[in-house]
Amino acid sequence: MNLSHIEHIGIAVKNLDEAIKFWENQLGLKCYSIEEVKDQKVRTAFFKIGQSKIELLESTDPEGPIGKFIEKKGEGIHHMAFATDGLQASLDELAGKGVQLIDKAPRKGAEGLNIAFLHPKATSGVLLELCEDPNK
Ligand code: CO
Repeated sequence: MNLSHIEHIGIAVKNLDEAIKFWENQLGLKCYSIEEVKDQKVRTAFFKIGQSKIELLESTDPEGPIGKFIEKKGEGIHHMAFATDGLQASLDELAGKGVQLIDKAPRKGAEGLNIAFLHPKATSGVLLELCEDPNK
């Protein structure tokens, strides 16, 4: 398995437009993309910080994963994502080691990345995402 860097940190927010204001006006970062990911029932906003990103996530459906997360835990860090250059191979390797996965095969995430989640039971409670840029 080859994990190269923290690709992004996902933060669940109640109001995307309000949250963007904080990251732009108070922290001086620039939102370079807003995208709806229907599959995950979210609207996302992205900021670059070094080679990593911050992904703000607003739920578009109370029954979606971010809607449920905010109802249970409130706003806050939702997941961390590591970049890998062989996503399916990484998932197969983890499955072979008995690591519990949410996704056994990659699916499409924001920004055209292929993504997959590990189960938080396997990771001390941190929802981990692995992602791969198919254009690299
Ligand atoms: Co993510």
